[in-house]
Amino acid sequence: MGKIILTGDRPTGRLHVGHYVGSLKRRVELQNSGEFDDIYIMIADAQALTDNADNPEKIRQNIIEVALDYLSCGLDPEKSTLFIQSQIPELTELTFYYMNLVTVSRLQRNPTVKSEIQMRNFEASIPVGFFTYPISQASDITAFKATTVPVGEDQLPMLEQTKEIVRKFNSVYGKTLVEPEILLPDNEACLRLPGIDGKAKMSKSLGNCIYLAEDEKEVQKKVMSMYTDPNHIRVQDPGQVEGNTVFTYLDAFCKDEHFAEYLPEYANLDELKEHYTRGGLGDVKVKRFLNAVLQEELAPIRARRKEYEKDIAYVYDILKAGSEKAQKTAAKTLEEVKAAMKINYFEDEALIQQHIKKYQ
Ligand code: TRP
Repeated sequence: MGKIILTGDRPTGRLHVGHYVGSLKRRVELQNSGEFDDIYIMIADAQALTDNADNPEKIRQNIIEVALDYLSCGLDPEKSTLFIQSQIPELTELTFYYMNLVTVSRLQRNPTVKSEIQMRNFEASIPVGFFTYPISQASDITAFKATTVPVGEDQLPMLEQTKEIVRKFNSVYGKTLVEPEILLPDNEACLRLPGIDGKAKMSKSLGNCIYLAEDEKEVQKKVMSMYTDPNHIRVQDPGQVEGNTVFTYLDAFCKDEHFAEYLPEYANLDELKEHYTRGGLGDVKVKRFLNAVLQEELAPIRARRKEYEKDIAYVYDILKAGSEKAQKTAAKTLEEVKAAMKINYFEDEALIQQHIKKYQ
């Protein structure tokens, strides 16, 4: 059996460098590794609507933004199928059947759902669609028989839920679905890149993101304003590296070669950290270095985005062709699911014959 990737993002805003190190960069590497038979990258608009029901315009506007971000990072429509979730009706049909295999209390225990309910102040009025989105996510993954789901750590509970549904389905109806594996970023700093204010997570509502589409000046401004060690006041003071956003970003982005190019007084990040901890190294110097590293990484992404921006109709064509291909794959799985569940009456000649006999 082949190796298949399925992953995606909610189109609620432009993608930022947290998405990039947490998932996008890896996707492109996996795409180019040639190890996968199929790669499906989904813009999860239906899922985004589960907590944005009153704001469909936001979702609609951001589909093209996310598509541009994907393409600019190097996702190649020749190698990866980019598609829009809502255009695949089979996904909702699968969700309806999987709902019978999941209990309300199991959904209530899902840590991601729990924290999102809190974040959105949904406590007393949780939309049913939102509450059940882990089941819909299981449909997304299983419809494509995905073996591998590269996502951030926050998606772990979704993968657990999916695996449970797969096991339950296969044990009740016979082996039909494929159990997926999560693929997390291998670098600790990439798991959860903090916002530029040092807050736990980059998030649009906190205004602490660096977006992939931002220009050089904006990125530089944000880097220079980053949260560091608040007790590192004078250059000669010893500084703290843990919890220091600038160093967390360097952990995520910098390689030894960057030192040779931009900061040759140091061989590697360990030496820089050592100097900072000892005292005598100012924040501005470290920030300038981070800026150089980030700009190097983001420049080709920006340039590719500019190219695709010139041909938006082509980007829509990519999404349309991708959605058509994805729909075919999902339809095939749905057919197998319905056969396993014995709801394929018209294809079941034995059933029809049985009933003919019964009433002869
Ligand atoms: N929940 C994911 C997010 O919030 C988006 C998503 C929807 C997804 N369906 C998926 C990710 C299936 C991986 C696999 O970003």
